[in-house]
Amino acid sequence: MGSHHGRLSIRKDPFGTTPEGAGVDVYTFSNGRVTVSMLTWGATIQRVETPDRRGRTENISLGFDNLPDYAKLSPYFGATIGRYGNRIAKGQFSIDGNKYQIPVNDGENALHGGTLGFDKKVWKAKVVQTSSHVGVAFTYVSPDGEMGFPGTLTTTVTYTLDFDDDLRIDYHATVAGKPTVLNLTNHVYFNLAGEGSGSIEGHVLELNAPSYTPVDSGLIPTGEIAPVAGTPFDFRRPTAIGKRLREDHPQLVIGRGYDHNFVLGGKAGHDGLRFAGRFTDPGSGRTVSVRTAEPGAQFYSGNFLDGTFQGIGGKTYRQGDAFAFETQHFPDSPNQPNFPSTVLRPGQTYSTRTIYSFGTK
Ligand code: BGC
Repeated sequence: MGSHHGRLSIRKDPFGTTPEGAGVDVYTFSNGRVTVSMLTWGATIQRVETPDRRGRTENISLGFDNLPDYAKLSPYFGATIGRYGNRIAKGQFSIDGNKYQIPVNDGENALHGGTLGFDKKVWKAKVVQTSSHVGVAFTYVSPDGEMGFPGTLTTTVTYTLDFDDDLRIDYHATVAGKPTVLNLTNHVYFNLAGEGSGSIEGHVLELNAPSYTPVDSGLIPTGEIAPVAGTPFDFRRPTAIGKRLREDHPQLVIGRGYDHNFVLGGKAGHDGLRFAGRFTDPGSGRTVSVRTAEPGAQFYSGNFLDGTFQGIGGKTYRQGDAFAFETQHFPDSPNQPNFPSTVLRPGQTYSTRTIYSFGTK
């Protein structure tokens, strides 16, 4: 979709108050065509409104209309995830011979930063507005020892929208005192036919991923980097998500569908990013393309949405009603010597970027 010139706008409204008495705001920013709402709770994407091929605008992001549901029920809808996206085996790792323990919250493993990750924190927000971009910079300072992680970590994640309908996410972090491990991502769930409209099995997916990281029964990588060729994990040519979802491949059985880290192929372009994947809903024509500086992405086909709660539009979310595509370093990297390192040391700057581009086809 070509760029257009509307008007950039942003507004701030109160969204709720935490039980501890902290105010939570919702920022809504728009380029006149795409409109994004974000909460200071978890630096969370609450709504993403985009037009379909006939120009009809709908919210395509799963979420809630109230803070208590986010705090109690949310499977990380739209949240900024930290310190460590995805799993760390048994919540344990060591850096320079020092051992650390993260409280486990996914069977015997730690998921998405432990029991009280960045998704459950109130972030400071600052409006960002230039002639070409509008959005919010969210900052959170995580004290040394929070959720067992070493070092005081200062994280700023900036979400901006431009006239090309690109939602850009810039992640920056520094650590003081001790080295830490870090794997930031965003956990937005999309249904390109509209939030709450049913299954995403008909969405077509193309992935720039020649291999993936198979997992054990606790969804911890075995350490192997396996080629996708000849398996239901091969999305190098556009393929409907549902086409092979019920095959008896042991990895699909373990994940109850797709819940795997894909290893991205090729080299980054001059902007440091490479194409990761594209999702297309043939019905509405909506597409989302993802580019990232990260080496991997978790493609999750909404397997654990189990019909136990209702979302923002009043519809119950059931298995496969949305997908998540979380750009990231590989799961359990702190315990996997052959995966790219996720260690951040004092004096270093963590800096990465992911772009979601919205369009129609
Ligand atoms: C994980 C899934 C998990 C989902 C929601 C994904 O990143 O890989 O296993 O159910 O997040 O928590």
